[in-house]
Amino acid sequence: MNIITFGTFDVFHVGHIHILERAAELGDKLIVGVSSDKLNIAKKGRAPVYCEEDRLKIISSLKCVDEVFVENSLELKAQYIKDFNADVLVMGNDWSGKFDHFSDLCQVVYFPRTPSISTTEIIEVVKRIK
Ligand code: CTP
Repeated sequence: MNIITFGTFDVFHVGHIHILERAAELGDKLIVGVSSDKLNIAKKGRAPVYCEEDRLKIISSLKCVDEVFVENSLELKAQYIKDFNADVLVMGNDWSGKFDHFSDLCQVVYFPRTPSISTTEIIEVVKRIK
């Protein structure tokens, strides 16, 4: 079974590793689409702290991850699912319901987010350090 998931994974944190490990447990191969810097600016209105090359390097070095690629467009999700022969799409439940239309291509699973941590929150905490 091939599992696919997508995200920015900027300023890598424990919420990221939790969802990747849980996703990997669903199958034999975990494939991760890492948002490009450009897509991140369009999606979140700011450039990531870590550039896409570094984010790809970090994600690809994880034990639970088998393959990574750059996600260049949100519109290409169906294509990526087909290209990587994904059986299951995993997303955090901040996306709940938003990817249900892919269920004709693969199973769609939403995992609960790890509470009290996000890249945005970490950036805010760091900004407050004097
Ligand atoms: N995620 C999670 N638990 C968290 C934070 C993220 O399960 N506490 C999941 C998201 O649901 C998503 C993946 O990790 O499936 C990548 O999320 P990403 O947007 O890169 O991380 P965030 O920390 O949510 O980033 P930001 O604060 O910039 O939105």
